[in-house]
Amino acid sequence: MSNLVEWFEFQVPGKVICAQQCVDSIGTEMDNIGGSKVLVVTDEGVENAGLTQKVIDGMDSGSAEVVGVFNEVPPNSEIQVVQRCYDKVKEADADCLVSVGGGSVMDTAKATAILMVETGDLLDHQSAVYTPSGPMPPHIAVPTTAGTGSESTFAAVIADHEQEMKLIFQAPEMAPNVAMLDPMLTTTLPPGLTASTGMDALTHCIEALHSEMHEPICDGLALHGIRLITRYLARATADGEDVDARTYMLIAANMGGVAFANAFVGIIHAMAHSLGGHFGTPHGIANSILLPYGMEFNLRYSDEGIPASYRRVAEAIGLDVASDDDDTASRKAIEWLRGLTVEIGLPQRLSEVGVPEDGLEAATSEAMIDGCMFNNPGDPEEEEVLELFKKAY
Ligand SMILES: [Fe+2]
Repeated sequence: MSNLVEWFEFQVPGKVICAQQCVDSIGTEMDNIGGSKVLVVTDEGVENAGLTQKVIDGMDSGSAEVVGVFNEVPPNSEIQVVQRCYDKVKEADADCLVSVGGGSVMDTAKATAILMVETGDLLDHQSAVYTPSGPMPPHIAVPTTAGTGSESTFAAVIADHEQEMKLIFQAPEMAPNVAMLDPMLTTTLPPGLTASTGMDALTHCIEALHSEMHEPICDGLALHGIRLITRYLARATADGEDVDARTYMLIAANMGGVAFANAFVGIIHAMAHSLGGHFGTPHGIANSILLPYGMEFNLRYSDEGIPASYRRVAEAIGLDVASDDDDTASRKAIEWLRGLTVEIGLPQRLSEVGVPEDGLEAATSEAMIDGCMFNNPGDPEEEEVLELFKKAY
């Protein structure tokens, strides 16, 4: 147990329910946590796919009433959207939230909950650790992708276009009270989004494992997340109606979310955030391209036990590495992951996804000050990160 940390904290988020059609009982769950007037937060795509209505129908199982639907959440939510969502809360006189969608939708609801407690301007409450001045409103999150795990994390990422920054609002109280994992709400997600959001989940698991903040509970969650994603992501991508694969992907994304909510993520997310901020590169695609390069890079931190950690990734994938040293086992895992991204049809290089080559230096500067960079092992230098961007280009 040489990897055992001397001291750690692990914060457990809310209740998780997982079953086909579990949203049919969402009204009962809302009764349990004391909400009576519900604002449903969602986006137009999810609404048009009929998923929001399924959840609204499920509210009939309890006594809470749906008093409004806010469907204006864009792919990367922003301060003004949260403000409009809060305006809708006031207009409808809502006292609780149900979010139905991907990470942007769930994060919008989490940030709206801050305004429901504090009122005023969201920017006034931005800090590394937000301390609510009163009880947060009841919130049930229903993810329609298996990726972010935001239904069970403590943070909301909201863009501020005036400052050209992504702001992070964070507090243990921000975790939704209940996460409902219903695979039937993910079967219509197209293959490209299934693949890229699934790779985001896989990156959460691997980065939680190599983070300086990793500890045994998060390691366990991350490793089983890796086991499930490497078995089921290709299946869910090839056949969206494969309900078993969809179920395991939702579970794995949730485990990755809980792992990284506690252990945080590292260099790969720091670089992906920067590409997203500068060039709008979709988060899952940026992570998917950068993951093997970031792992190769981190192999240099053998004093921090990285090759030994990645041997465990290889074992979780199910590779036969019994007779290999840690470095060889790690490289087998990295090559296997590259093969997975080819199999599920994702781009392999940054040059394929609209990132301009002359923008890599600016992206590097931004990545260096991203909070995730500080949890990476070692102390990556600016030139090394630029080199890494170029390798992935
Ligand atoms: Fe992520």
